Amino acid sequence: MRVLDVFCFLAAAVSFARPVIGATASCGTGVVGTAAPGDPYWLESIKHQGIAAFNSAPSSYKVFRNVKDYGAVGDGVTDDTAAINAAISDGNRCGGGSCDSTTTEPAVVYFPKGTYKVTTPIIAYYYTQLIGDARTPPTLLADATFTGMAVIDADPYIPGGGGAQWYVNQNNFFRSVRNFVIDLRNMPASSSATGIHWQVSQATSLMNIVFEMSTASGNAHQGIWMENGSGGFMGDMVFNGGKFGMWVGNQQFTVRNVTMNNCNTAIYSIWNWGWTFQGVTVNNCQVAFDLMTGGVTQDTQTVGSVAVIDAWVSNTPIFVRSSTASSGKLAGSLVLNNIHLTSVPTAVGVSSGSDVLTGGTMTIDSWGQGNVFSGTSQTASFQQANIPAPNKPSSLLDSAGRIFGRTHPQYADVAVDQIVSVRDQGAKGDGTTDDTAALQKVFDTFAGCKIIFFDAGTYYITDTLTVPAGAQVVGEAWSVIMGGGSAFEDQTNPKVMVRVGNEGDEGIVEISDIIFATKGPAAGAIVVEWNIHSDQQGGAGMWDTHIRLGGAAGTNLLASNCPSGSQNTDCSAAFLALHLTPQSNAYIEGAWVWLADHDLDSGGSRQTTIFSGRGILSESAGPVWLIGTGSEHHTLYQYNIANAANHYMGLIQTETPYYQPVPAPPAPFSSSSAYNDPTFSSSQTSAWAVTISNSKDIIIFGAGLYSFFSNYGQTCLDSSSCQSQIFNIDSESTVSVYALSTVGVTYMLSVEEQGVIPASANANGFASTATSWTR
Ligand SMILES: *[C@@H]1O[C@H](CO)[C@@H](O)[C@H](O)[C@H]1NC(C)=O
Ligand SMILES: *[C@@H]1O[C@H](CO)[C@@H](O)[C@H](O)[C@H]1NC(C)=O
Repeated sequence: MRVLDVFCFLAAAVSFARPVIGATASCGTGVVGTAAPGDPYWLESIKHQGIAAFNSAPSSYKVFRNVKDYGAVGDGVTDDTAAINAAISDGNRCGGGSCDSTTTEPAVVYFPKGTYKVTTPIIAYYYTQLIGDARTPPTLLADATFTGMAVIDADPYIPGGGGAQWYVNQNNFFRSVRNFVIDLRNMPASSSATGIHWQVSQATSLMNIVFEMSTASGNAHQGIWMENGSGGFMGDMVFNGGKFGMWVGNQQFTVRNVTMNNCNTAIYSIWNWGWTFQGVTVNNCQVAFDLMTGGVTQDTQTVGSVAVIDAWVSNTPIFVRSSTASSGKLAGSLVLNNIHLTSVPTAVGVSSGSDVLTGGTMTIDSWGQGNVFSGTSQTASFQQANIPAPNKPSSLLDSAGRIFGRTHPQYADVAVDQIVSVRDQGAKGDGTTDDTAALQKVFDTFAGCKIIFFDAGTYYITDTLTVPAGAQVVGEAWSVIMGGGSAFEDQTNPKVMVRVGNEGDEGIVEISDIIFATKGPAAGAIVVEWNIHSDQQGGAGMWDTHIRLGGAAGTNLLASNCPSGSQNTDCSAAFLALHLTPQSNAYIEGAWVWLADHDLDSGGSRQTTIFSGRGILSESAGPVWLIGTGSEHHTLYQYNIANAANHYMGLIQTETPYYQPVPAPPAPFSSSSAYNDPTFSSSQTSAWAVTISNSKDIIIFGAGLYSFFSNYGQTCLDSSSCQSQIFNIDSESTVSVYALSTVGVTYMLSVEEQGVIPASANANGFASTATSWTR
């Protein structure tokens, strides 16, 4: 570390001939904040110069908006609704029902500390981050007269529209809400006052939010209301009071670190294919998880699967309640791991039925309800009983024995002069200027000394950019780093676009709110190579950071030149999206590794045919946490875990390319043994969602592996035959799989490429669910 200290100091001093304020003794191990107690969050005070590179008027379009600049007062008395909504909608943004998506109108809407009274919903437009002061989170105070869906509405219903909404719920991407107290207590207890209507999809997050609701008996308040979508990640939330903390229905979601106090029902779930809850605390509620179950056909979908790991529940009569008894048939798969109950008489119950698992004050180590599989047996065994526990390597656990979790870093205590702007240092971010050298200089000069801020923009690079150990990187409305040019075109000579740490590097790296992208053709791009290893748990990580390949303005991989069915190999976006190399470790939370199946800027979500060779390859010895990640539409595989160890993956979500089996993988790529590619037998005519080989202690706690198409047709869905096999494990690896849901496949899990778990034995609504597989 000493060498790095001196280097940082000298480099900065020489370049700028002025004292380096941020270079402290801790330089290289994370910037130690020096903000004064009364200072606002640095995001409020830095120079605001983010741009939307591909906006039609990039010089006038504002990415950063402070609600006070639009007239919000924040005194708790003035009605700030109109001012806040003006801040959000300024600049002719994508909304109102006439625009389903765009990448050219991003916004950060910032709320200084204060209390903002609102009387109708704050409408969170597409591609918006609503961010409160992280030091003193502002309060959004619903007035007693409040009318409308929710204090924050992420997908409004169009009045008189017969159920029509602004956005398509499964395509409602790129949203985040952070650092707020949402206070509903002035509204009548009898009103269905709601904090957030969060009907969203991938690349979305809720974080650091407290919901204050009525504690009157019989009140009707609710924290989150979500009726459908395809998420997503949320975490670090506290719900006080209310009828429901969360009332939720969505294909899949990952929830980490939520606390419910004094509510009626902590979490009510109306439907899903699979949700994973990691770290749940419930105190003094009536029911912790209340699940609508019993619908096992596509048309009657109810809760398919809930998996809970690390829950502490006290003084609550019922931990889990299903609406329908599940005995003898699958209706609501349940996995419970490391559950601590204190004065909870019913552990698992059924509405108007006898308890399935008696509670009390007790610990549930590993329990399941549903179809349990082991080894190569194809026979489902329906269980409501203890199920085999995973081996949890201690490197994955915190000091209380829970799966480790780390909140998206926000650097709340950092002073403005501890932030360095890449634009101030000469990077343009205009989507066309080659910023490779300017960015490399920023990293080499400031990594470990200052927080490196990527002002909103698209930073075009034409050669490998190295992010050194010590770097703490923050984007603005998902700043884009986009690689393109001849360096990345040759799939026989793949080249790293962003290298995070050099091989063997030890130290921290933190990256948040960034998108890594390519400009086509880019068949040779290894988009992110992750080499960094940190001795600190979660010290090497990414949060709300995504890999987005094609489908966005500036990528040259669009519906106009790569329309659905075009089969043009110039429409290649990557060789490999994310590579965790053998010596690395990683904490990745809320990451969507997406090869675009449709063009976000085409209007009407027009389909594209674009190719990306590989999704996520991990060869890491761990610990690796993949919390709330998705990988979609890559040609060979979505997740390839090879020669790896010590992984916690929950929930993982995948989709197979829509064009397959025309051509069948690996085409248009060829297999590469150097990258541990799986081989493709003549019968494997679609991508693997997950392939695991020669690996140890891999825990998958929730998976949604979907194959919705065969050569763009969907009739295969009716017979679960869009592909035969989707998830392969070799005979050597030690793997535990819980809450596995699949769509459109014949076999849910294979060993040595022989189908083991037949989907037909596990029909569970639209998806099929295997509660656990171990061996
Ligand atoms: C979303 O959920 C609402 C409420 O349950 C329902 O009316 C609507 O049909 C659903 N929409 C879709 C597209 O599934
Ligand atoms: C959980 O969330 C709470 C509330 O936001 C926060 O104070 C705490 O640090 C979080 N814990 C973890 C392990 O993320």
